[in-house]
Amino acid sequence: MSNRVTIYEVGPRDGLQNEKTLIATEDKILLVNDLTACGFQKIEVTSFVSPKWVPQMADALEVLEGIDRANGVTYSALTPNLKGFDRAKHALADEVAIFAAATEGFSEANINCSIDESLTRFKPVVKAAKAAGISVRGCVSVITDCPYDGAVDPTSVVHVAKALAEMGCHEVGLADTIGVATPEKIEKVLDAVLQELPAELLSGHYHDTNGCALDNIEVSLDKGIRLFDSAIGGLGGCPYAPGATGNVATEAVVDHVTKLGYYTGLDVEKLGDVAVFARGLRR
Ligand code: HMG
Ligand code: MG
Repeated sequence: MSNRVTIYEVGPRDGLQNEKTLIATEDKILLVNDLTACGFQKIEVTSFVSPKWVPQMADALEVLEGIDRANGVTYSALTPNLKGFDRAKHALADEVAIFAAATEGFSEANINCSIDESLTRFKPVVKAAKAAGISVRGCVSVITDCPYDGAVDPTSVVHVAKALAEMGCHEVGLADTIGVATPEKIEKVLDAVLQELPAELLSGHYHDTNGCALDNIEVSLDKGIRLFDSAIGGLGGCPYAPGATGNVATEAVVDHVTKLGYYTGLDVEKLGDVAVFARGLRR
């Protein structure tokens, strides 16, 4: 198996979306440009969600239009519906992400609809994206524990992950949204999903509230997964996941997987500098 690990840097979106004080658009643009200089091939820049729900992402268009793009780098954005997709397309997003949940409680809290409604809502987004030549990644939130519905049955994760793949997502991210999963729980849910979908189609998105994210990545590597989301400086959290802290820090992931013998292609020294800058954006 390949020893190449790809990091999908989600700091500009997942890392910043939860900040209560509005961060200047120019600083968000600087952050993305600095991340590009670190060598990332995939950067989640922003989200085209309702500004009433997430005011911090209201400048999505300005950020995506303001960044300096490097050849070969995918600059993506979250899009919860067609309105979000149209805005992302207008801003020339290279890829969009649709995001569902494994529980009804989180789905309602995060995107104001049931799981089934969300899947119905995503279908025209995928169709429109395909027509525009824009790739779509899917995401399943709360794969082990939900702040509203408690412990999550892996069967629901499999159901939603499969639905996203069948819809046309070229990749399905599995998210421990509140960062409390243990490696045992991750192993259990991965085993269930891997019965239906190949490891090459999956990615891990682990928040780090309880400090297990690196171990969860290690389990995922053992299962063949080679793509992980992380946020520079460990910033972030989800506005609809009370108590959850940020994604696992990118610099920690790079350090950890490198020690395990994997290769990320990222500039470690620059990463350290950008982590300091990113943390400084918090008020
Ligand atoms: P809703 O209120 O049910 O939507 O929200 P609606 O269709 O009834 O529209 C209400 C208003 O929002 C309307 O405006 C729409 O035009 C507007 P009004 O007529 O009242 O002036 N609107 C939009 N505006 C801009 N862009 C849009 C858009 N859509 C509607 N795309 C909706 C439904 C999905 C829009 C809302 O619930 C929402 O925006 N949710 C996003 C929540 C969010 O961003 N959560 C955090 C990201 S997900 C996450 O962090 C998890 C992840 O990291 C993985 C993990 O860790 O689990 C990915
Ligand atoms: Mg997240």
